[in-house]
Amino acid sequence: MLDLRTHGPVRSAAPGDAWWRSAAIYQLYVRSFADGNGDGIGDLAGVRAQLPYLADLGVDAIWFNPWYPSPMSDAGYDISDFRNIDPVFGTLADVDALISEAHALGIRIITDIVPNHCSDQHPWFQAALAAEPGSAERDRFWFRPGRGPDGSIPPNNWQSVFGGPAWSRVTEPDGSAGEWYLHLFAPEQPDFNWSNSSVRAEFEDLLRFWFDRGADGIRIDSAAMLTKNPLLPDLPELRPDLAPGPNHPFLDRDDVHEIYQAWRAIADEYQSRVLIGEVWLPDAVRLATYVSPGELHTVFNFPYLSCPWDAAQLREVIDNTLALNAPVGAPATWVLSNHDVDRVVTRYGRTDTAFSLARRSYFHSLAAGIELGTRRARAAALLTMALPGSVYVYQGEELGLWEVQDIPDERRQDPIWHHTHGADPGRDGARVPLPWAGDEMPFGFSPPGAADPWLPQPKEWRDLTVAAETGQDGSMLELYRAALAIRRSEPALGDGAMMWLPSAPGVLAFSRGTSVRCVVNISAEPACLPEHAGLLLASGPLDGELLPPDCAAWLRAAPVAD
Ligand code: NOJ
Ligand code: CA
Repeated sequence: MLDLRTHGPVRSAAPGDAWWRSAAIYQLYVRSFADGNGDGIGDLAGVRAQLPYLADLGVDAIWFNPWYPSPMSDAGYDISDFRNIDPVFGTLADVDALISEAHALGIRIITDIVPNHCSDQHPWFQAALAAEPGSAERDRFWFRPGRGPDGSIPPNNWQSVFGGPAWSRVTEPDGSAGEWYLHLFAPEQPDFNWSNSSVRAEFEDLLRFWFDRGADGIRIDSAAMLTKNPLLPDLPELRPDLAPGPNHPFLDRDDVHEIYQAWRAIADEYQSRVLIGEVWLPDAVRLATYVSPGELHTVFNFPYLSCPWDAAQLREVIDNTLALNAPVGAPATWVLSNHDVDRVVTRYGRTDTAFSLARRSYFHSLAAGIELGTRRARAAALLTMALPGSVYVYQGEELGLWEVQDIPDERRQDPIWHHTHGADPGRDGARVPLPWAGDEMPFGFSPPGAADPWLPQPKEWRDLTVAAETGQDGSMLELYRAALAIRRSEPALGDGAMMWLPSAPGVLAFSRGTSVRCVVNISAEPACLPEHAGLLLASGPLDGELLPPDCAAWLRAAPVAD
């Protein structure tokens, strides 16, 4: 096998290139990455100290979950000041230093903007509460009188994504029971009214604020939810799952695209700045419109993330993704996990390997074989990193961390768990602080003598620390390091075309250019390798010339005879 463990220099940081088309992007959940000051919560000092780890891992960019001042009702997705940093994470000066240190290492920075809502502590919402019904301050949000003789029934029947009604009633400054305001997420996250021009101007200014500070990209939270039918009609009683689209009162409405066209014009004023949409939509054709020319650069590939470990279904998702991106010229993205979904090792170890946000409690009720899930996650990593386009690595995925399903109830933080009264276990299990070194909690996450990590870590993670996995043959970390290094050094990987090769049922085989082939065995039988001239990397030991079940390999293609 070629020894590609010695890492070349990071990919060129030259301005002007379309870096996002091929990039390997690390999703960094600051709260759980590394704690510099010992309060048990990850922070920017911790990130800065570990930038060499990320450079060595071989990523091209880092996407940071929200780092702004926030009461943390939704782990920072409830922002009270979009132009500053929460003191628990650090200061703006820390971000400036972080951006320049990352750039010096050739790593780009993507910040997370949340345009659908803010915190109820945001000065605009506080001003709205203090102002009269019908005032300009209230028009930046969705305030409406309630229904019924005393206005005690919410203005419509919409439900919050986090459970319960999507409306909360305010107490007016004179003490009387007053209007209601819309929040598609938690009550602490009031929705902005995007038909108000000051909201649009504010976010356009914010983009410039972060681009001027050196951000290379913006991840756009809940990107398909911003615009609402101003009449705020009820959802049909019998069809609360009405398909997103022009007829839906708040999901994927046509007028949301004007917002992103304006944002793209701003991004284009700068060099190589990228807009990445968080768009969960069942209709792939409508999804593709978000990345049509003059709009966003990429969107996350959630159909791939949600796909079960099944060759035919994976192939279909891959084909659909490429078919829909090709006509608009946008690169595909490949995502195995993020901070909102169950970790991939656990998902692929279950009897049902699909995933859906709406059925999280069902998936948590299934038994999960961690060994099986890990073997599949290793194969999936090679599949994912061989596909054409950019790839995301959610922190901890490179260590093979699993979903922590047994967090004690009193330690749970996710508003989903609270708002559904525990019916939905929520997302804490994917957000447990990273283990870096050592044999016991906090596994090097915090300095010695620190407070306990904000969520408890399983004791078995002593075998999954960065220190334990470094240099260990067969560890997930060394697999990711080797794969990212090859991906960077092989021009055929990253952006470009792929071609399916003939393969047995349950086996995915494809070529990237004339030099690299990838084969993934999702069947229960050992599979023959396609013709090749050498092995670049495998997710597990081969069985002679055969690829065992739940294994993947990258092959050097045989030279074409003249
Ligand atoms: C999507 C984010 O990824 C999630 O973590 C958050 O709770 C919601 N949007 C609301 O901002
Ligand atoms: Ca800290």
